[in-house]
Amino acid sequence: MSTPPPEQPAVQTTDLGRSYGTMQALTGLNLTVNRGDLFGFIGSNGAGKTTTLRILATFLTPTSGTAEVLGHDVVRHADRVRHLIGYMPDFFGVYKDMEVTEYLDFFGACYKIPSAQREKTVADVLELVGLTEKQGALIGALSRGMQQRLGLARVLIHDPQLLLLDEPASGLDPRARIEMMAILQELQRLGKTIIISSHILSELQTLCNRCAIIEKGRLIYSGPIRGAQTQLADTRAYWVKVGGALTAARDLLAARPEAARVESHEDRLKVVLANPDGDGGFIADALVGGGQRVLELREDELGLEEVFLRVTKGETQ
Ligand SMILES: Nc1ncnc2c1ncn2[C@@H]1O[C@H](COP(=O)(O)OP(=O)(O)O)[C@@H](O)[C@H]1O
Ligand SMILES: [Mg+2]
Repeated sequence: MSTPPPEQPAVQTTDLGRSYGTMQALTGLNLTVNRGDLFGFIGSNGAGKTTTLRILATFLTPTSGTAEVLGHDVVRHADRVRHLIGYMPDFFGVYKDMEVTEYLDFFGACYKIPSAQREKTVADVLELVGLTEKQGALIGALSRGMQQRLGLARVLIHDPQLLLLDEPASGLDPRARIEMMAILQELQRLGKTIIISSHILSELQTLCNRCAIIEKGRLIYSGPIRGAQTQLADTRAYWVKVGGALTAARDLLAARPEAARVESHEDRLKVVLANPDGDGGFIADALVGGGQRVLELREDELGLEEVFLRVTKGETQ
């Protein structure tokens, strides 16, 4: 198979749209995922995540615009794309009465992996997802977390370059979720590009290097996870610790027009800026000018979850 030139992104959608009857599920989506990204695809229920992933997985055709996977159009070159991707749907049937190895061997055969090679391939993917010890077990006897990891093993069987994982951590307990995330990080180290969707932002916050946030089928943010906080936050605040009396410091800061609000929290003050584009330089000026010693001054790290909840508030269908 011809390998596309390295400069092509793993995924590129251009004005991608999809409607179901009169319902517009995706509108003008322009998304770029670079090779090697562990990319978070974030949105509340009904935002259009599954629709987008199904289009990339060639299961659903766009009603407008285009989508390319590693330079191949998902409609015109669907066969090529299918070999490049591993798609794990949000719900997939489990073959409860099948043994783990039997199941993976079956999918290996579907991808036409020669039988002589399949045994090793199956062993390799089982090791990757940490299920070697369960190779002879019945699928129905595995925990939910293990079944989910088996699902991941299944989409790895043909060694795809791009993984499309639709809410793979949903319904998992915290421990199983952490195990799943560790496997995804390992896969990224092995050179895979991974798109993982979720409606729970905090589970992607430390995992992904880049993300897109969609709401009602429209992109509202795309870029580094860190940048989402700065770009989407509509307030900016600083935490201050002073050497002297907190009340005196509070009065000094409250008198400044740059401060919208000053709150006391135990031994610290939280200063919310009047202008979110401003900076906290005035805080040190005001305090030092008023004879206070500044022991600590740092910007409030607004949690991504908080930003997300605010941005998507009331938008769920
Ligand atoms: N097969 C379908 N027929 C009609 N509407 C659908 C269908 N699939 C999804 N939708 C609608 O499209 C929108 C996006 O759905 P989906 O892509 O599943 O979002 P998400 O995965 O982010 O929850 C929702 O409003 C959903 O109800
Ligand atoms: Mg979905």
